Amino acid sequence: MKKKIVVLASGRGSNFAALVQFIKRKKLNAEIVALISDNPTAGALLLADSFNIRAICIPFRKEERTNFNEKLFKTLKDSEPDLIVAAGFMKILPPEIVNYFERKIINIHPSLLPAFPGIGSIQKAWEYGVQVTGCTTHFIDNTLDGGIIILQSIVKIKPNMSLADLESAIHKEEHKILPKSVKYFIEGKIKIINRRVVIEE
Ligand code: GAR
Repeated sequence: MKKKIVVLASGRGSNFAALVQFIKRKKLNAEIVALISDNPTAGALLLADSFNIRAICIPFRKEERTNFNEKLFKTLKDSEPDLIVAAGFMKILPPEIVNYFERKIINIHPSLLPAFPGIGSIQKAWEYGVQVTGCTTHFIDNTLDGGIIILQSIVKIKPNMSLADLESAIHKEEHKILPKSVKYFIEGKIKIINRRVVIEE
């Protein structure tokens, strides 16, 4: 039976699109059963439509956070996913959801964690003047971008690189390591020893 994946995305959805294409190209034994967004204007919702993937919007309002969390939790449970992928999801998941789906939620983050967690990470790294940065996939736990690391990819910041150059270089790497991480998960190849991930090829 195909493994069921639910993708969470708040923005344009380039990582979501990369994952859809990878699953198709590599014939992964997996199916994205829904794309959920907190943002009604997210490009990811339109992309989901174009891929014939169920697009669900649960609009987020700050003053209704509890209501949002409950709806999201219910929608996720109803989908019975084997894996949840946060592909540019800009809301913090509440402990109920994180604990229920422990080690079943993979996040992509645009820095070499544990450096530059939170938002605006690419710009923060660029302004800080680091010479290498990159991206990380990790399991979501109840810390801010502090969960167990699955894969990382390095991007060197050359002296003449603009912030936009750096952003596109990082996105390019994200589009490789997120699908790869999903593949390893789906194929049961991720072993965790203490905090260290070992990929059993
Ligand atoms: C990606 O760069 C992802 O790493 C980042 O949002 C972007 C989404 O791009 N996620 C975070 O910053 C999470 N803290 P996309 O919508 O084109 O996939």
